[in-house]
Amino acid sequence: MLNEQATGKASRASLHGHWSSHMAFILAVTGSAVGLGNIWKFPYIAGQNGGGAFVLVYLICVVLIGMPVMMSEILIGRRGRRNPIATMALLGAEEGSTRHWRLVGLVGVLAGILILSYYSVIAGWTLAYVYKSITGVFAGATAAEVSAQFGGFVGDWRLVAVCHTLFMGLTIFVVARGVERGLEQAVKFMVPALLLLMLTLLGYSMNSGHFGEGLAFMFTPDFDKLTWDSVLAAMGQAFFSLSIGMGAIMAYGAYLPQETSITGATAAVVTADTVIAILAGLVIFPLVFANGLDPAEGPGLVFDTLPLAFGQMTGGAVFATLFFVLLSFAAWTSAIGLMEPAVAWMVEHFGRARAQAAVLVGILIWALGFATVLSFNVLADLTFYKGTIFANIDYLTSNFMLPLGAVFMTVFAAWVMCRNSTAEELGGAGTLYKLWRLLARFVAPLAILFIFLKAVGLLPDFSS
Ligand code: TRP
Repeated sequence: MLNEQATGKASRASLHGHWSSHMAFILAVTGSAVGLGNIWKFPYIAGQNGGGAFVLVYLICVVLIGMPVMMSEILIGRRGRRNPIATMALLGAEEGSTRHWRLVGLVGVLAGILILSYYSVIAGWTLAYVYKSITGVFAGATAAEVSAQFGGFVGDWRLVAVCHTLFMGLTIFVVARGVERGLEQAVKFMVPALLLLMLTLLGYSMNSGHFGEGLAFMFTPDFDKLTWDSVLAAMGQAFFSLSIGMGAIMAYGAYLPQETSITGATAAVVTADTVIAILAGLVIFPLVFANGLDPAEGPGLVFDTLPLAFGQMTGGAVFATLFFVLLSFAAWTSAIGLMEPAVAWMVEHFGRARAQAAVLVGILIWALGFATVLSFNVLADLTFYKGTIFANIDYLTSNFMLPLGAVFMTVFAAWVMCRNSTAEELGGAGTLYKLWRLLARFVAPLAILFIFLKAVGLLPDFSS
């Protein structure tokens, strides 16, 4: 697989083979996008940032920034057909710029490693909740009992470490064997099943008596509560949830057949991802208000609300088990994507066997994960800048590294690559192409920079 390939431009052959079909690509990208970001992170970040206005900014970011960035990332990936670092270097040279564009790929590889280090810990919580659900601990539990369950669990670092280890093991296993087959099957089943279960939960939360309150919280924008830091958090969450800004989608794009429509695939993935995140909010917030919980409580939010609902439903233990199994699957298909850039790079750059690369990268991530494992117990009081070590890793990656990567990728696609190259990848120079170019040349990079600089206080306050 690693032989040198001829570098015919548009028809460059992939070093890793192709997706079995157009649909397989959409499924794989959807699998990477739909994960803990939608169900665990979106509700708690929205809760911490006051709800409505945050959600609105999030949606605007998804459409005006997320979509053009994702299209740029896929088209770069398909044109380069290599791991993100090699692709950026190759295209940089090919488009008459410099090979130093590879640094963008490098930042992405690092972001993936850092994100997975904490992602795996939260996925470990999910695995533990599969076990708790099976044993029926939530049946008839009160809000206080459910939150005591959560507190007791994350407070026990050894237990959390075991779950994190188990999840990393599962991830390394799939990545080592090569991504293709199993992944397609898993996603094909998982996303529809997750959607169905969320709809069931939605029915429950509509009957909780506090649905209106939940709706109002999510969709009534109160701009007084919105700070530039929340706007940055909304944008960072859009990048995180769509899996963009770090080269993962670029790595997936490298395996995409030439005839697949990048615009169409992007629209499908973005829609699926956004629908699931909004649904999660619609399920969780009514439960928060029905039980007198705090929407801003943080990373424990899903684990404190959903088990309550399951505990009161008939057949709740079955639904709960199913739900946490599906969420674990969703996290699994995302974790694979987070590891892919680093592994693909090690394979191509150092000529390692795939399995060996997966184990090496996996062990590094596993070790880094202990910073997060301990952030909720032993080191919970070790706070600086944005909070615990976990909070800082999250802030650094979502709100700094992903936006930075996204700026460079869109600038590369829209300013450095020649018109012919991008028009060829995006299927001609029609209206949609012009719209992409407008967003990718000006709107997305300027908006990202502006929001970032505002949030860190490097731009003056014009309003006062
Ligand atoms: N989008 C994933 C989620 O919502 C997390 C994620 C961020 C990711 N970047 C990624 C997954 C890159 C795969 C590849 O849970």
